[in-house]
Amino acid sequence: MKITVFGTGYVGLVTGTCLADVGHDVVCVDIDQSKIDRLTQGEIPIYEPGLESMVLRNVEAQRLSFTTDARKAVEHGVLQFIAVGTPPDEDGSADLQYVLAVAATIGQYMNDYKVVIDKSTVPVGTADKVSACIAGVLAERVAEFDFDVCSNPEFLKEGSALEDFTRGARIVVGTDSDRVADLMRECYAPYNRNREKLMFMSVRAAELTKYAANAMLATKISFMNEMANLAERLGADIEDVRRGIGSDPRIGYHFIYPGCGYGGSCFPKDVQALARTASKVGYQAELLQAVEAVNKRQKSTLFDKLSHALGGELAGKTIALWGLAFKPETDDMRDAPSRALMERLWEEGAVVQAYDPEAMKECRRLYGERDDLVLVADRVQAVKKADALVVCTEWKEFRTLDAGWIREQLSHPVVIDGRNLFDPEAMANAGIDYYAVGRGKTM
Ligand code: UGA
Repeated sequence: MKITVFGTGYVGLVTGTCLADVGHDVVCVDIDQSKIDRLTQGEIPIYEPGLESMVLRNVEAQRLSFTTDARKAVEHGVLQFIAVGTPPDEDGSADLQYVLAVAATIGQYMNDYKVVIDKSTVPVGTADKVSACIAGVLAERVAEFDFDVCSNPEFLKEGSALEDFTRGARIVVGTDSDRVADLMRECYAPYNRNREKLMFMSVRAAELTKYAANAMLATKISFMNEMANLAERLGADIEDVRRGIGSDPRIGYHFIYPGCGYGGSCFPKDVQALARTASKVGYQAELLQAVEAVNKRQKSTLFDKLSHALGGELAGKTIALWGLAFKPETDDMRDAPSRALMERLWEEGAVVQAYDPEAMKECRRLYGERDDLVLVADRVQAVKKADALVVCTEWKEFRTLDAGWIREQLSHPVVIDGRNLFDPEAMANAGIDYYAVGRGKTM
């Protein structure tokens, strides 16, 4: 099938590449010429395991190409995926300007029947706006072409996006048109072989499904973080509690790991946007607001524990930081707990000595050169001559730690573990003042 994907960000690039990989003829389009030039030369702008080789092999096979030529792109595909960004605007609502700009472009160059597919996470009702926008442009052109707009939200996780696309739990399609249903079935057929994964529903239900899924997962995390904070104060170990409740199949083990708060480009933004959508229709989404508030507070616990352990004296201290990315297997630092911590530490006059296996370049891009940010080559360098250590991301290489060596390096043997990677007893035995999340020791 001929497919066009607007937006070569995370979602667009993964979608376009995975569809090309099963033989579709895919054109990815973006307005950023330098990005398109780099992609054409095989340079991938994001870190995602397996993506680079998949892009290269499909470009080589001439099933995947990149362009800034919007006319060519619109004329190419019967399916037109919109996978551009929807950043939050001032009040937390999703900003639809990029989505609607693509809709206008499609209207401008449409030359035949097209299915326009909202892949970006967009508020309920967006498909109607996209449809109205295209119809408006066609009317201006005095052109009459048939088109349909459908919703096909993505459920990709950064770090396992290819796996999630190719072996995801479900493929949600919101449409009331049989023609669209047939075309979407054909598009996804290669990924729908072993069991029926396609779920057809109304456009609005599909749009809400995306938000409901992320909000549910964020709720699980905030709930566990609240339980962890309680466990700390009640003298219980949250890891025991986690196993105790996870074993109940109605609860399950997924997404109940307490930590230093959820980050990334999705949960924080989507929970906020859904709460805004709710208030726009006159409903106060109190649970969603609480989920967000608990998460915000959780991010500050790293600083609070560190400050407590160091007696409130942070000015002039050097703090070792392991992990900058919002989670392992990505270089993404959007809304990462590490950022809340670093920014607080800088306010207090501390120096951050940080290491992350992938996100160093991104950290430099975000914060530039500054005296109070030292980026080092490995986890060992980060700890040298530091006063205390904070772990923000559970990269595999951080899971082993020579407690004796750490204690010798740190001027204050303080370790704040935002991901519960270590055994509190072993740390205490090694003479380390160890604070985890919901494991005994509290402020
Ligand atoms: C999330 C969803 O998991 C995807 O299904 C969805 O498609 C995506 O958002 C999106 O809307 O695009 P992602 O943001 O890549 O994916 O990352 P997750 O693996 O879900 O992690 C989000 C955050 O929750 C991370 O900061 C992680 O550390 C935290 N987390 C996760 C916990 O603190 N505890 C857990 O048990 C699980």
